Amino acid sequence: MNFIALETEQKLRGGYYTPEDLASFLTRWVSPTSGTRVLEPSCGDGAFFPTLQGTGANVTAFELSPEEAAKASARGLPDCTVHNRDFLGWALESKGKQFDAVIGNPPFVRYQYLPAAFQANAERVFSRLNCKFTKHTNAWVPFILALMDLLRPGGRLAMVVPSEIVHVMHAQSLRTYLGEQCRRIVIVDPQEIWFEGTLQGAVLLMAEKKASPEVHGEGLGIQRVAGRDFLQQDPEAVFNTPRAINGKTVAGKWTRALVPTATLSILEAIEEDSRFCR
Ligand SMILES: C[S@@+](CC[C@H](N)C(=O)[O-])C[C@H]1O[C@@H](n2cnc3c(N)ncnc32)[C@H](O)[C@@H]1O
Repeated sequence: MNFIALETEQKLRGGYYTPEDLASFLTRWVSPTSGTRVLEPSCGDGAFFPTLQGTGANVTAFELSPEEAAKASARGLPDCTVHNRDFLGWALESKGKQFDAVIGNPPFVRYQYLPAAFQANAERVFSRLNCKFTKHTNAWVPFILALMDLLRPGGRLAMVVPSEIVHVMHAQSLRTYLGEQCRRIVIVDPQEIWFEGTLQGAVLLMAEKKASPEVHGEGLGIQRVAGRDFLQQDPEAVFNTPRAINGKTVAGKWTRALVPTATLSILEAIEEDSRFCR
């Protein structure tokens, strides 16, 4: 059993910041140029801002903590506005607003630990997108839902997210939503813990929204990586590695993407055979 009174301030706001090499890899993949509308929904002290320096992007950022928002503003990134407020509340008021790219690392905070107003906003995000809500959710799930809704068709979302995105039951409606909305999704899954002081494993989520609803969704791929050498590679090459893409995985648990396509076909035939599954 966990008790809110025993948790640290850092854990209660999900204040674990992204190392610059990871942030740089994600920003390079969304390739911002002059005027690109970039959204950073929970910027902390602005760990992603150095990676945007000199790109000419127009950056909209949010951060709940006044101290951290002030640090982010003090970085002096040109054409960047840092709003010291709750991102989910803003997203719910901003129907129709669109961004070319989303980058960052949303708060990982269990639903029970969120203030009542944020819990209500989280539930409203699910309801607006017709996604099934559960109180087992975590702050990062409504963040990703709201962010995908704010992304323009063809836009890119590049974020650090908990590795539980691949399998946890409470994120099933998010996985289904992303599968419907995206042309291609790639998860970069490390063999090591990237964040000191937390037991929570993290992965990189690279998702490109369909340019139109008629576009064929290619599905999901999981790239397992050892060490940090991949961060020196072209992120586009990592995203395009076709070997890992499996169009049959987006509807259920994404762990299926780890199974070779031929084996998956056999598994599915067995699942569909009434002699084996009743
Ligand atoms: C995991 S940290 C990531 C910070 C930064 N994006 C990075 O990658 O280093 C999450 C941040 O979200 C902030 N946060 C928590 N709830 C928020 C909310 N509802 N709206 C905006 N920011 C929030 C926390 O204060 C924390 O700084």
